[in-house]
Amino acid sequence: MKSKLQNLKDEILEKINEIKSEADVKEIELRYFSRKGEISEIMHSLKDLSLELRKEFGVLANKTKKELEEAFSKVKNNFSNDENCENLDITLPGVAMKRGHLHPITIIQREVEDLFTGLGFSIISGPELESDYFNFTALNMPPLHPARDMQDTFYVTNGKDDNEELDMVMRTHTSPVQIRAMQKYGAPLKAIIPGRCFRNEATDARHEHTFYQFEGLMVGENINFSNLKNLLEIVGIKLFGPETKLRMRPKFFPFVEPGNNGEYTCFLCNGKGCKVCKQTGWLEIVGAGLIHPNVLRAGGIDPEKYSGLAFGFGLTRLAMLKYGVNDTRLFNSGDLKFLQQF
Ligand code: PHE
Repeated sequence: MKSKLQNLKDEILEKINEIKSEADVKEIELRYFSRKGEISEIMHSLKDLSLELRKEFGVLANKTKKELEEAFSKVKNNFSNDENCENLDITLPGVAMKRGHLHPITIIQREVEDLFTGLGFSIISGPELESDYFNFTALNMPPLHPARDMQDTFYVTNGKDDNEELDMVMRTHTSPVQIRAMQKYGAPLKAIIPGRCFRNEATDARHEHTFYQFEGLMVGENINFSNLKNLLEIVGIKLFGPETKLRMRPKFFPFVEPGNNGEYTCFLCNGKGCKVCKQTGWLEIVGAGLIHPNVLRAGGIDPEKYSGLAFGFGLTRLAMLKYGVNDTRLFNSGDLKFLQQF
């Protein structure tokens, strides 16, 4: 009897040591620890012993049983599932995960990108911290040029040299990427450049130190003003609807010649005059022109052989118009009450 008990104990301990899965746990439980298991069987057989032996073995059997149960329950807990899982109802609706969404500027940017990639333009980008040279000088605005005054920005001096052209600026427009693109890809070239720009502004509802533009650029043989007008008309119709008209009025930008301001009929009042267009019926949205020969040269392109057109849209302004936002500062405010409306 004694050795039978000892053998069983050794056997069970060995089995417990070998447990690898919940299935093993179940098997051992059934075979040894259940009501009809081998342990119960031995306990049962005690009743067939003489009173004396029963006393002797009873104590030993009970002690062994307890030890085995303890050893088993320690291992068992590692393999059985968390108690809570037994109450888990997988058919209940889950806790919804919070999802973000696109920023209104990004939504407009993607719309514009779709339009232009459909017209065969590529999308390129350039640095926001730009050299003074690319942001101004290469765009026909050498140091001390008065046109620089209109685009005051944040300057980062390199501290080593008093050569202004080595200084860095937070770019005031996306136009410096015209030069970078021409230098990198040469002619012919069709590209748009969406991106963030910066100016040192006294901020108010219409001015912000950080805003978005997108530049368009087309360089090739015989690119002329009608190409520019046609392209801007297509963009207007796509952005503001089929009735949209374009008018172009002369405006000076040092990097284009001739330069102009593109205006579209106000899509809110259809040109009749309203608060948004300040009763004029027209929305001033894009600066444009034919690329100045000096700018082509700075881009490494021969102005005798090639010509080009360029335009710059205020992306932030487009978003304001499209969504009826009356304060440009809201876009960068991080105010969720504003952003969650899109
Ligand atoms: N870069 C000009 C601005 O920010 C816009 C522009 C781009 C004008 C291209 C003409 C051609 O005001």
